[in-house]
Amino acid sequence: MAVRKKLCDSFSKSLMDEVHRWGCMKQTGVSLKYMMEFGSRPTDRNLLISAQFLHKELPIRIARRAIELESLPYGLSDKAAVLKVRDWYLDSFRDLRSFNDIKDMNDEREFTQMIKAVKVRHNNVVPMMALGVQQLKKGMNPKIVYEDLDEIHQFLDRFYLSRIGIRMLIGQHVELHNPNPPLHCVGYIHTKMSPVEVARIASEDARSICLREYGSAPEINIYGDPSFNFPYVPTHLHLMVFELVKNSLRAVQEKFMDSDRVAPPVRIIVADGIEDVTIKVSDEGGGIPRSGLSNIFTYLYSTAKNPLDENADLGVADTAMTMAGYGYGLPISRLYARYFGGDLQIISMEGYGEIRILCSFSVQNVYAASIYLSLHLYHAIL
Ligand SMILES: Nc1ncnc2c1ncn2[C@@H]1O[C@H](COP(=O)(O)OP(=O)(O)O)[C@@H](O)[C@H]1O
Ligand SMILES: [Mg+2]
Repeated sequence: MAVRKKLCDSFSKSLMDEVHRWGCMKQTGVSLKYMMEFGSRPTDRNLLISAQFLHKELPIRIARRAIELESLPYGLSDKAAVLKVRDWYLDSFRDLRSFNDIKDMNDEREFTQMIKAVKVRHNNVVPMMALGVQQLKKGMNPKIVYEDLDEIHQFLDRFYLSRIGIRMLIGQHVELHNPNPPLHCVGYIHTKMSPVEVARIASEDARSICLREYGSAPEINIYGDPSFNFPYVPTHLHLMVFELVKNSLRAVQEKFMDSDRVAPPVRIIVADGIEDVTIKVSDEGGGIPRSGLSNIFTYLYSTAKNPLDENADLGVADTAMTMAGYGYGLPISRLYARYFGGDLQIISMEGYGEIRILCSFSVQNVYAASIYLSLHLYHAIL
């Protein structure tokens, strides 16, 4: 209750009224194709147009999330961590709304600095929300299982998907100010992204975390044509491959750590077709038990020790540096796949005891590419 009171004190009623007014407005979608075309000409005029668009669009998107954070089921809205996240959204809303109309390039530059700060303010939203859900679970009847929190998982899916969009819009605008953009880059978009190359970097990153955590790491073999490319956001693909490979490395490592057998390599196959790209990540780490399958896309489902326990006081945790335990590698990767119209599904094939995770995404309007990141696993051989 005390925290609630503090919140009302620090944010005036007029601000809250404004949040509700803006939250009712319609948000405008932007396609990858549009961003790529628009961003390829980062003239002053275009930067101004882009800033003016964001000045109107961001408060709508942020207000909607702030409102949603007010009425979450099971009292999740009252958890300290969730209140903190809501404060971030309200602070950002206020920053955006108190910024006057953008009329010239001076305004534009100031605005760009401000939204850059907004992006930084929201850096830790995902671990902070996870902490909130964890705080909720601790006080709950242990009989309530993950699936019962369906409403919360659906909310988190929406919430994080919206966050990906907001960060893409801000990041793209900020990046367009780079006077020397890397070759073939339009903001966050790489017009000739090589999935093999991205997979290689993501695998090395995952492997070095595995090395640090376990002292050794299975090999990773990547097969595919490194020159094949299509327009996409490399940071998104990096995140997905990174999360999938970390999971594979952990499974293999845990299974073979104490055995005299050499750990079998994790294999990544990038098969490019004219319309489709297929990325398959396979490991022989034992697979996902049937009991875990139904929970796999719920946030916080993890068979690793939760690092949030140790960092609870800090409230922040560097997820990128952690091997496992937050339980949102798979659900978040699925959101990134979905962001550009793809998906990530798990298909369990009986008899063969094989589990596949198919992750497909298409680059709308630009080039019809769908990518299947399929994770081929083996159940423990009985
Ligand atoms: N390749 C895999 N092999 C075996 N189990 C897996 C694999 N990928 C995921 N899992 C299981 O799914 C759980 C959730 O994965 P994830 O969402 O990435 O969260 P985290 O890795 O933080 O636990 C893991 O804890 C693990 O039990
Ligand atoms: Mg993981």
